[in-house]
Amino acid sequence: MEIYFAPMEGMTPSLLRNLHNEFFGGCDKYFTPFISTNENYLLNHKELRDVDPENNKNLTLVPQIISNSAHQSAEYLYMIHEKYGYKEVNINMGCPSGCVVSKAKGSGMLRDPDFLEDYMTDLEKEIKEIRPEGTFLPDISIKTRIGYYSENEHKRLTEIFLAHPVKQIIIHPRSRTQMYQGKVCMDEFRYMYEAFTDAGIGVVYNGDILTKEDYMRIAEEFPKLEGVMIGRGLLRDPSLARYIKGGKQADNEEYLKYMEAVLDGYSEKIPSEKNVLAKIKDLWNFAKPAFSENEKGYKDMCKADSVESFRVCMRQYVRNSRLF
Ligand SMILES: Cc1cc2nc3c(=O)[nH]c(=O)nc-3n(C[C@H](O)[C@H](O)[C@H](O)COP(=O)(O)O)c2cc1C
Repeated sequence: MEIYFAPMEGMTPSLLRNLHNEFFGGCDKYFTPFISTNENYLLNHKELRDVDPENNKNLTLVPQIISNSAHQSAEYLYMIHEKYGYKEVNINMGCPSGCVVSKAKGSGMLRDPDFLEDYMTDLEKEIKEIRPEGTFLPDISIKTRIGYYSENEHKRLTEIFLAHPVKQIIIHPRSRTQMYQGKVCMDEFRYMYEAFTDAGIGVVYNGDILTKEDYMRIAEEFPKLEGVMIGRGLLRDPSLARYIKGGKQADNEEYLKYMEAVLDGYSEKIPSEKNVLAKIKDLWNFAKPAFSENEKGYKDMCKADSVESFRVCMRQYVRNSRLF
């Protein structure tokens, strides 16, 4: 079964993806955080840098788009393949953020099933009709939730996706209302898993895999999965995919080397020290649950107001805390 590193806006830029791959490996695919489509079919500077194959060597990258327009989506699929050679593009139908949803993007696409149905129909049409015969278009995968208001919407969503099959569906079994919290809805996930695998559509599970045991449970219960996607679990334990695949779990020194490499990378790329500190502290916010028995050390790290004092505190924190 494959393991994918989930896209996380602000947390998984190319710098982190590359360092993760170099230090730990274990992930079969990485996804870019979402690229919002627009009518000019242009990527901004940040998106360009993030998607540029030159900045994503030695790993398999899947660019992700977010859109409410079938026409723009089809153009981006084409452009991303033509310009950068990617063979798969992922469409985000899961983002729960208010400003995304208000534009009927991300999980906002799931709010009105008729809108979703029209989008999928038009996307199919655009792909078939607008592009000249023989044009290669990348495979489409969709990252979705199981409903907008509630998990009870999963059957209708399944029906729509079955009528417009794509290569693979990555399912986060929560409704938009749940954001990323609360119980994952495994009965609803099973329904979708059975329906899509029966129809020959690849299914990937995403949600709350934090340990090897979590992975084993999912893999055992759903043997026909093509893969699992892991987000927060890989920020907490960057060695998790390697460990799941039989490699070793990180120890304190390896963890520290990785975090220092991330800190150095941010320091090189981001001109303002304040912004470097904000970025590394954001990452530590997700990494923190891996460590225990040193609350004071963590507080010292949070209080650091220069990169060098942060580095000193980080070394002390990682070396003097219990990992896992
Ligand atoms: C800070 C943050 C940013 C995220 N950004 C994206 C994104 O750009 N695209 C996307 O599809 N999902 C995004 N997600 C959702 C994750 O990809 C993933 O679905 C979610 O964290 C649940 O998986 P997990 O329990 O393994 O973390 C984001 C999540 C977080 C916490």
